[in-house]
Amino acid sequence: MPSIAALSSMRRPRARRGKAAQLFEVHRSCSSRRGASLLRGRADLVIAVGDGLRRNGHEVRNAALRIRAQLLISLQHDLYRIWAFIPPILVILLWVGPLGAQTERASEAQPRQRPVPACAMCHMQAQTQPATSMAHGLETIEECKVLSARPLLTFTAGKYSYRIERHGDESLYSVSDGLQTLTMPIRWAMGASTDFGQTYILEKDGELYESRVSYFSALNGLDLTLGYQDIKPANLLEAGGRRIFLGEELQCFGCHATNAREGQRMTLEKMTPGVQCERCHGPAEEHLASVTGGDPNPVKMKHLTRMSTEEVSEFCGQCHRTWEDVIAQGRFDINDIRFQPYRLTGSKCYDVDDRRISCLACHDPHHELDSNTLDYDAKCLACHGRGQPKALVCKVSKNHCASCHMPKLELPGAHHKFTDHRIRIVRANEPFPG
Ligand code: HEC
Ligand code: HEC
Ligand code: HEC
Ligand code: HEC
Ligand code: HEC
Ligand code: HEC
Ligand code: HEC
Repeated sequence: MPSIAALSSMRRPRARRGKAAQLFEVHRSCSSRRGASLLRGRADLVIAVGDGLRRNGHEVRNAALRIRAQLLISLQHDLYRIWAFIPPILVILLWVGPLGAQTERASEAQPRQRPVPACAMCHMQAQTQPATSMAHGLETIEECKVLSARPLLTFTAGKYSYRIERHGDESLYSVSDGLQTLTMPIRWAMGASTDFGQTYILEKDGELYESRVSYFSALNGLDLTLGYQDIKPANLLEAGGRRIFLGEELQCFGCHATNAREGQRMTLEKMTPGVQCERCHGPAEEHLASVTGGDPNPVKMKHLTRMSTEEVSEFCGQCHRTWEDVIAQGRFDINDIRFQPYRLTGSKCYDVDDRRISCLACHDPHHELDSNTLDYDAKCLACHGRGQPKALVCKVSKNHCASCHMPKLELPGAHHKFTDHRIRIVRANEPFPG
C-alpha cells in the first residue's frame, strides 16, 4: 500500500541527496489524496485499547501507543497534523523542502543527517535514536561529516605519505612511497561518531580494504589505525590497507550496520548504515504495515524490555563484547578496557539478577551517551544508598561516584580514554586489573 511505501521510504537514506529534499518528497507523497484515503481510520483499534487498559502497566503503555496509532490513522483528512508529532525542527526542515537544492549546496560542509524513521510517528525513541553515535557507527562517504568538513587530510609514516582528499560527495585515499602512488575511493567510514575517530573502508578492484591510517578526533587528524602500530607493510598496497575477507566483512558490517548480512551472505543492497531499530528489535516491515493499516492485533516486535541483567549484557555484548568473547580471545590487558559487558561482569557490584546494574540502568540506547558523571550518582545510590544490604556507603564522597570508581583510561593507539566498567576502589599505581 502506497502510504506504507511512502513511510518506509523515510527509513532508507538515499545517497547523494540532502535531507531537506528527501523529507520534502516524503511529505508530498504523504499529503497526496491517494495516500490520505489509504490511511482511513479504523475504530476497531479503540476496542483493543479498552482491553489493554484493564490489564497491567505494560498493557496500559501498549494501549497508549495504540491510541496514538489510532489518532494518527484517523487524521486522514488532514495529514499535515501527523507532523505535529515530530519535533518542530523537522517541521522547519519540511518547509525548507522547496528550497532543497539551494539548502543542499549551502550545507555542503555541514553534517548530513539521516531521514527520521517512520516509527517516529508513534515511538519517541525514533526521534532521538537516529542522532546517536550508535546510529552513526557506519556512514556512507557522502554523509561523512568528518571528511566533508576536512577537504584535505595528510599524514606520513616512515617512507609512506597519505592524503585523503574530498571531491564533492566523494573522498579519495592515496598512499605514496615517493615513486608510486596508489589511489582508492573510500566507500565507508566506520566508527563514524566524532567521539573517538573513524577507520575507512576502501575499495580496489571490487575488494574491500581497511585503511592503514584512521582519523582521530583527539588529534583532529590522521594516525595509524589501532592495531597497525607494529605491522611493517611489505608493499604499497599493504601500506594502503588490509584486505577484508568475507568472514571479517560480515563481522564488521554486522556490528556497525543494519540488515547487512543474512547468514554468511553480505546484503549490502538492503543495508542501512549504523545500528538502527531493526538491528536490535528485528524486522519491522510487517509491524509497520499492520500498525499503519489499523490492524487491531498488530504484528508484534521483539520485546527487549523484559531482559534480565545478564541477558542485557549478552545482548549489548554481541557487539560490545561479552565475558565469553574475551575469555575466548585469551588476552587480558588494557585492550579489553573497551569491552564494557566483560569489564562490568568482573565488578563486585555486578549481580546477574539485579536490574540496577544492567547496562540499561545507566544507558538508554535510544539516546546519546550522557557525559555528566553526576547523572550516574543516583544509579550507584540505588544500591549504595542502603538499597542493597551488602552495598556499603562511601566514606570519601557523596557524589561524582563514577569519576573515582569508574576511571577513564587511555587505550594506547586509540587516542581516547575509555571508561572502565569494572567498578572498584582504584589504588594508586595499581596494574590494570585484567
Ligand atoms: C502507527 C503507529 C506505529 C508505528 C508507525 C510503529 N509502531 Fe511500533 N508499536 C505500535 C503499537 C501500537 C505497539 C504495541 C503493540 C502491542 O504490543 O500490542 C508497538 C510496539 C512496538 C515495539 C515493542 C515495544 C515493547 O514493548 O518492547 C517495538 C520495539 C516497536 N513497536 C518498534 C517499532 C519500529 C522499529 C517501528 C518503525 C519501523 C514502529 N514500531 C512503527 C505502533 C507503531
Ligand atoms: C563484535 C562487533 C564489532 C566488530 C566485528 C567490529 N566493531 Fe568496530 N566497534 C564496535 C563497537 C561496539 C564499538 C564502540 C566503541 C567501543 O566501545 O569500543 C566500535 C568502534 C569502532 C571504531 C571507533 C573507534 C574505536 O576504536 O573505538 C572504529 C573505527 C571501528 N569500530 C572500526 C571497525 C572496523 C574497521 C571493523 C572491521 C574490520 C570493526 N570495527 C569491527 C563493534 C565492532
Ligand atoms: C549491533 C551492534 C551493537 C549493539 C547490539 C549495541 N551496540 Fe552500542 N555501539 C555499537 C557501535 C558500533 C558503537 C560505536 C559507534 C561509533 O562511535 O561509531 C556503539 C556505541 C555505543 C555507545 C556510545 C559510545 C560513545 O562514546 O558515544 C553506547 C553508550 C552504547 N553503544 C551502548 C550500548 C548498549 C547499552 C547496548 C545494549 C542495549 C548496545 N550499545 C548495543 C554497536 C552496538
Ligand atoms: C542498540 C539497540 C537498540 C536500538 C538501535 C533501538 N532499540 Fe529500542 N530498545 C532497545 C532495548 C534494549 C530496549 C529495552 C529498554 C529498557 O528495557 O529499558 C528497547 C526498547 C524499545 C521500546 C519499548 C520501550 C518501553 O518503554 O517499553 C520501543 C518502542 C523501542 N525500543 C523502539 C525503538 C525504535 C523505534 C528504534 C529505532 C529508532 C529503536 N528502538 C532502536 C534497544 C534498541
Ligand atoms: C552503573 C552505571 C553504568 C552501567 C551499569 C554501565 N555503564 Fe556504561 N558508562 C557509564 C559511565 C559513567 C560512562 C562514562 C560516561 C562519560 O563520562 O562519558 C559509561 C560509558 C559507556 C560507553 C562509552 C565508551 C566508554 O568506555 O567510555 C559505552 C559504550 C558503555 N558505557 C556501554 C555500556 C554497556 C554495554 C554496559 C552494560 C554491560 C554499560 N555501559 C553499563 C556507566 C555505566
Ligand atoms: C545492583 C546494586 C549496585 C549498584 C547499582 C552499584 N553497586 Fe557497587 N557494590 C554493590 C555491592 C553488593 C557491593 C559489595 C560486593 C561485595 O563486597 O561482595 C559493591 C561494591 C562496590 C565497591 C567496593 C568494591 C571493592 O573493590 O571492594 C565500590 C567502590 C562500589 N561498589 C562503587 C559503586 C559505584 C561507584 C556505583 C555506580 C557507578 C555502584 N557501585 C553501583 C552493589 C551495587
Ligand atoms: C574522590 C574519589 C571518590 C568519590 C567521588 C567516591 N568515592 Fe567511594 N571511595 C573512594 C576511596 C578512595 C575509597 C576507599 C576508602 C578506603 O579504603 O579507605 C572508597 C570506597 C568506597 C566503597 C567501599 C566502602 C567500604 O567501606 O569498603 C564504596 C562502596 C564506595 N566508595 C562507593 C562510592 C559511591 C557510591 C560514591 C558516590 C556516591 C563514591 N564512592 C564516591 C573514593 C571515592
